[in-house]
Amino acid sequence: MRALFTEAPGGWEHTRIVEKPDPEPRTGEVLVDIKAVGLNPADYFQVQGQYPGQPKAPFITGRDAAGVISAGSGTKEWPAGTPVLIIQSQLRDLAEGTLCERQRFPVSTLAPIPIGWSIEEAAAAPLAYMTAWRALTVSANCKEGSKVVVTGASGGVGTAAVQLALGLGATVIALSRSVQKRAKLSAMGAQHVFDPEDPDLKKKVPQAVGGRGVDIVVETVGGPFIRTAVNLLAPYGVVGVVGVLAGVEGPLPIPSLMFKRAKVEGVLVSDYSPEEAPDEWAKIISTLNKRSFRPIIDKVFPFEDYLAAVEHLKGSPFGKVVLTFPGR
Ligand SMILES: NC(=O)c1ccc[n+]([C@@H]2O[C@H](COP(=O)([O-])OP(=O)(O)OC[C@H]3O[C@@H](n4cnc5c(N)ncnc54)[C@H](OP(=O)(O)O)[C@@H]3O)[C@@H](O)[C@H]2O)c1
Repeated sequence: MRALFTEAPGGWEHTRIVEKPDPEPRTGEVLVDIKAVGLNPADYFQVQGQYPGQPKAPFITGRDAAGVISAGSGTKEWPAGTPVLIIQSQLRDLAEGTLCERQRFPVSTLAPIPIGWSIEEAAAAPLAYMTAWRALTVSANCKEGSKVVVTGASGGVGTAAVQLALGLGATVIALSRSVQKRAKLSAMGAQHVFDPEDPDLKKKVPQAVGGRGVDIVVETVGGPFIRTAVNLLAPYGVVGVVGVLAGVEGPLPIPSLMFKRAKVEGVLVSDYSPEEAPDEWAKIISTLNKRSFRPIIDKVFPFEDYLAAVEHLKGSPFGKVVLTFPGR
């Protein structure tokens, strides 16, 4: 099989497509012919040597995938030929990622492809939706009537958070730096859209939601946005800290934190246990179905064009970037 293999992290010059033997599934695992892989920032952070808990090289990067259970593999519940997506590939060693033509996965990480979804949509979904769901329903208690700000709302996690919060009955305030992407977020159903760099944001958001501030901020951007996030909260509000694309450090407004009794909580998608993940995934699908939402894909690239795909992801697309294998 072909695999995107990193011999040494730190740059892309030591990462290339090479021929490898097919992995051998162990007890409780199946082999999957991978058809599509959704890219995540963690994939390029890992290749660049910037991912906390980085596996030792050599490794195959990649977290999301959808495919078909390989001939000769499979179990009674998951027979060969079944189309599947992988809800928690990070349960295994991060060195054995999804950017390859075949990979072994524990059956506990498999889920059927939701009805009507393409293989690309299935590959794009798991990490982003599971992360957004955790920020909304574990760090916070998003429900009918909640007011939710999503920063980086045009990204993979951001679009997932907008859809899920709307599916839960929340009012969504989506932040994006791009006027075109704000228009797309409105078309998705976000009730309010703003530029995160608008100097009047701190006034405009409370005005939009009746003066109080918001209950939840899903904070996917990092850096200086942590201050904005706390400043937008209503008393007892929660910031779910998800991402770092705008910086790994940021200022916290301490008086605002104190007087609002605000909570700022780190969100880590890998905290779902193998027992919890399938149930949470089922709740995600039923929440999306309430509004007929599906994963948003910005662009699909062939596997061989992985460098162009990574550059496209770094350029802030609207939704997800996906790689596909020939014959998918
Ligand atoms: N904690 C976890 O378990 C977990 C899981 C998944 C992802 N993540 C992290 O979450 C973050 C977002 O992931 P993603 O997949 O949504 O990424 P993405 O698809 O690349 O989207 C991120 C969005 O953030 C905005 N953005 C990017 N760089 C920015 C900057 N310098 N300043 C301001 N805004 C910026 C962009 O929106 P606009 O251009 O529209 O403003 C972009 O669309 C990443 O850091 C990722 O590693 C964490």
